[in-house]
Amino acid sequence: MATASGLASPPSSCIRRRNLISCRVSASVAFFAKRSARRSAMWCCYGGVEDDVLGSTSSSKPRLPRLVGMGSKLIGCGSAVPKLVVSNDDLAQIVDTSDEWISVRTGIRNRRVLAGDETLSGLAVMAAREALQMAELGAHDVDLVILCTSTPDDLFGGGGKIQRDLGCRNAWAFDITAACSGFIVGLITATRFMKGGGYKNILVLGADALSRYVDWTDRGTCILFGDAAGAVLVQACSADEDGLLGFDLHSDGSGQRHLNAMAVESEADVLSNMNGAPVFLPRKTSYACLQMNGKEVFRFAARCVPQSIETALEEAGLACSSIDWLLLHQANQRIIDAVASRLQVPSEKVISNLANYGNTSAASIPLALDEAVRAGKVKAGDLIAASGFGAGLTWGSAIVRFRSRRRESLFSFIQASKISGSKFAQPPLWERSVPIQQVYIRTCLIRGIFFTQYKFQL
Ligand code: ACO
Repeated sequence: MATASGLASPPSSCIRRRNLISCRVSASVAFFAKRSARRSAMWCCYGGVEDDVLGSTSSSKPRLPRLVGMGSKLIGCGSAVPKLVVSNDDLAQIVDTSDEWISVRTGIRNRRVLAGDETLSGLAVMAAREALQMAELGAHDVDLVILCTSTPDDLFGGGGKIQRDLGCRNAWAFDITAACSGFIVGLITATRFMKGGGYKNILVLGADALSRYVDWTDRGTCILFGDAAGAVLVQACSADEDGLLGFDLHSDGSGQRHLNAMAVESEADVLSNMNGAPVFLPRKTSYACLQMNGKEVFRFAARCVPQSIETALEEAGLACSSIDWLLLHQANQRIIDAVASRLQVPSEKVISNLANYGNTSAASIPLALDEAVRAGKVKAGDLIAASGFGAGLTWGSAIVRFRSRRRESLFSFIQASKISGSKFAQPPLWERSVPIQQVYIRTCLIRGIFFTQYKFQL
C-alpha cells in the first residue's frame, strides 16, 4: 500500500470493510429474522431505545425508535455558496498573475468568497436545508449532524450551532477536521454510526472558508481557493439497499510539511500579582496563512488517489469500468485529468465544477455532487467513485450509489441473470470474480417444518 511519501505502510493503516451478502431460504422468514435479530446485529433489526430527555433540545439518544441497519444510503444533497464572485481578472489586480496562467494551470476561472454578514455556518444551514428537502425529511428526523470543516466560525466547533439553527432538536453534533478529505471521512463516519450505533438519519456537511487563511499576496496559493458548503443526508437501510459499497482511508503526517496552516505563538504581556510582581507569561495563539508546496501536493494526489479508488473498488468487488461517475476533490483540473487517465475513466464520466468555485476544501465533493444531481447528470441508482485528498496529508475514497434502490435478493439475482434480456443480464454470480470467504448454513426442525438460513460473507 502506498503512502503519501511513497513508502510501504502496514495494512493496519488502511481501514477496510467486508461486504456481507445475506440470503435466506426459509419456509418462515419471520422466524429467523426474529431470532437473528436477538442473537446478533447482522440482520436489519430493531433497537427500541426509548428516550424522552426532559428539557433537552439535543440528545445522543434520539426520541425516534432506533433502527439498527446493516446499510446506509444517500438520499438527499444540497449546497450553498457565497454571493461574492472573485474572477481570475480580479486576482490579477492584486497579485502578479493572469487569467490565462490560472486557467491553464488549474482550470479555475472564478471562486466565491465570504463577505459582508455571510458566515460559514449560514452556508452550511442553507445546504443542509436543501438536502433535507430532497430527502423529504424534517429537521426533527435528523439524529446526528457531522460538520466536516477546517475553518469553523468557532474554534471549538461549528456543528452544534448548525444543529441549533436547523432546529434538529433530536440530534447531537460534532466536527471533523480532515481538510479536503473531510467530507469522505465524515461520510464514512456517518455509516459507522448507523452500523454500530443505530442512528437513522445523519446530515453530513462539508463546509470551508479557506479565504480566511489564504495569504492574498501569495499568487501561488490565493488563486486556488474558494468558500462553499455542501450537504448530504445519509439514511440507515437494510443490507440490500446499502449505498456505501467500499471505502479506503489514509493519512501520512510525514507530508504535513507540504501543506499546512500552523498555529503561531506570540508572547502576551506578563501577568503580575497584586503587588506588581511578574507571575507568568501566557502565550497568545493565532493561525498562520496556508502554506503549500504545490508541486509536492500535486505529485502526492496523482499517485495516491488512483490507488485509493482502486482499493475501494476492489473492496466493493467492482471494476472501474462499472462506475457511472468519477467525483474527485476539486483541487486542480490537471489532477482530475491525471487521475481519470490513470483509471481509464472517459472524460464524460468525470464530474468537474472547479472552474466556477476553485478548491472549496471539504465542501468540494458535496457541492459538485449537488450540482450534478440538480443538473440531471447524476441519477438515482448511479454508482459514484468519490475521492478526497489534502492537508494532513490525508486521502480517502468511497464507492457510493446515489439514492440506491433495494437490490434483488441473491436468488432472484441468480434467476434473473439466467434470463437473457432481463435487466439483470449480467454474468451469474459464479462467473464473477467474487471470492466467497465463508458460507454459514443453519438449519433446524421446528414442529415438523425445516428452517434453513444461508449467509455468504464476501
Ligand atoms: N501566476 C503566474 N505565475 C505563477 C503563479 C500565478 N498564480 N503561481 C506560480 N507562478 C509561477 C511560479 O513563480 C513559477 O515561476 P518560476 O518558474 O519563474 O519560478 C512558475 O509559475 C511555476 O510555478 P509552479 O509552482 O511550479 O507551478 P505549478 O505548475 O506546480 O502549478 C499549482 C502550481 C497550481 C499550485 C499546482 O502545483 C497545484 O495545483 N498543486 C496542487 C494543489 C492542491 O491540489 N492542493 C489540494 C489540497 S488543498 C488543501 O488540502 C487545503
